[in-house]
Amino acid sequence: MKNKFYVTTPIYYPSGRFHIGTAYTTVLADSMKRYHKLKGEDTYMLTGTDEHGQKIEEKAKEAGQTPKEYVDKMAKMAKELWAKMNIQYDDYIQTTEERHEKIVQKIFEIFLEKGDIYKGEYEGLYCVPCETYFTQSQLVEGKCPDCGREVIPMKEEAYFFNMKKYVDRLLAYYDEHPDFIKPAFRKTEMIKNFIEPGLEDLCITRTSFDWGIKVPSDPKHVIYVWLDALTNYLTALGYLSDDDALFQKYWPADLQIVGKDIARFHLIYWPIFLMALDLPLPKTILVHNWIMMKDGKMSKSKGNVIYPETLIDRYGLDATRYFLLREMPVAQDGFFSPEAFIERYNFDLCNDLSNLLNRTVSMVNKYFEGIVPTYNGTPNEADKELEEYSEKQIVEFENKLNEYEIANSLQEIWNLISRTNKYIDETMPWALSKEEETEKLKSVMYHLIENLRKIAILIKPFMNDTADNILRQIGVKEANLQNWESLKIYDKNGGQKVIEKGEPIFMRLNAEEEVEFIKQAMKGN
Ligand code: MSP
Repeated sequence: MKNKFYVTTPIYYPSGRFHIGTAYTTVLADSMKRYHKLKGEDTYMLTGTDEHGQKIEEKAKEAGQTPKEYVDKMAKMAKELWAKMNIQYDDYIQTTEERHEKIVQKIFEIFLEKGDIYKGEYEGLYCVPCETYFTQSQLVEGKCPDCGREVIPMKEEAYFFNMKKYVDRLLAYYDEHPDFIKPAFRKTEMIKNFIEPGLEDLCITRTSFDWGIKVPSDPKHVIYVWLDALTNYLTALGYLSDDDALFQKYWPADLQIVGKDIARFHLIYWPIFLMALDLPLPKTILVHNWIMMKDGKMSKSKGNVIYPETLIDRYGLDATRYFLLREMPVAQDGFFSPEAFIERYNFDLCNDLSNLLNRTVSMVNKYFEGIVPTYNGTPNEADKELEEYSEKQIVEFENKLNEYEIANSLQEIWNLISRTNKYIDETMPWALSKEEETEKLKSVMYHLIENLRKIAILIKPFMNDTADNILRQIGVKEANLQNWESLKIYDKNGGQKVIEKGEPIFMRLNAEEEVEFIKQAMKGN
């Protein structure tokens, strides 16, 4: 049976345009999906929008719309962005869809019947934008520890989920499943900050607003937006519905990707809800850090917000995706700056990748009239070294990617690109051609084309169009020379025609002008 790979992103708050930071999770999920798909696995990717709660109710009112009108418009905007970013999701769930709401109600009733939910009274300090209650000691300088805004005292009759009942099981699970939380320090953080101080039972209903899923047996209560939202990963697959074929096939998820701000919900409450439903837990939950600006978080008031559309329209999708993935170490924050973006473009994409392709295509044209030479010889020292290096880099790349060190995995590909460029300088094809060393020259051209083919396959999950463009320029048409398996081989015999004069895939930018362009665009946001 083929391996399967189910990857999810958090579902987004539909409260405006997504900046490049928020797009990061989804670009990463899409890249992981494409990687597994390229390996021949049966993949499924889920994304969507988190559409209930007081904040949405208020936003819709401000916009003079019903909440449903408001969230539908936002979901449409999100889908347009994902189309522009070439995100290959298989399903988009809106939590206001009936398929979701009905099942959330069923889940609530199951918890009630099991005695995991009880009725009590909640009193606490509430952050409206985060829809979260805090205790006095959790506040930072008297304000919400997550967003830094004012909290207000609130009291209401509410249902609670008995988290304490599951704490020991959760800790044992953490212990026995080292792959469950990545990076591992997030686990320590959860234990130290939330579990050791004593995990409170979670208040899971509200009566202070209306826009949410009602408790069927007590409809003045609305189900807490996090219990509602988290279950989307199950409801989208048809869990507890008449047709649960997708659920049977794909659950448990192989990878769930979330930003650090929502780690607590995914690493503590989510696994406990799953345990209460007697369901297996996702194999890995990957928590990534944030993309920051030099002056801190991106925010409209600081005038430092950058939207993906700005970069895509001017520099193309692949340069934008590359930057996001390359600049983000995952376990630490990554930084966006106009200078860094242009530098990555000019150095990594133009100097390294684009030049390697251009030099190779023009040499094959010049020395062999555009036909990749057939090569049946024995590799000499330099060729052998290149072959071994390439083999090693592919292994390094996969090791890093499978540990979700995304930026480092891209670095391994770029090491291969640099090494291949160096191979041109070392073998000096121009000298070989003068000396009429035809066999050696053939071998060099063959190895360059083969390395470009490998590089194209390696970058394909991240930069699909660029990869296709490279394969087209080097004349590789056969599907079996474009799949993951074919990374293992060095046996293409050549004979194919390269593009006569390929367009450079990335052209050098005027750094000063472009930095200024991005700065202006950020001011305009
Ligand atoms: N609706 C909740 C998730 C519910 S999941 C059951 C939510 N939505 S969000 O729209 O606010 O955030 C979506 C994702 O974007 C989160 O993973 C969040 O961490 C991520 N990011 C928000 N700003 C970010 C950066 N500046 N950088 C990287 N990721 C960022 O949270």
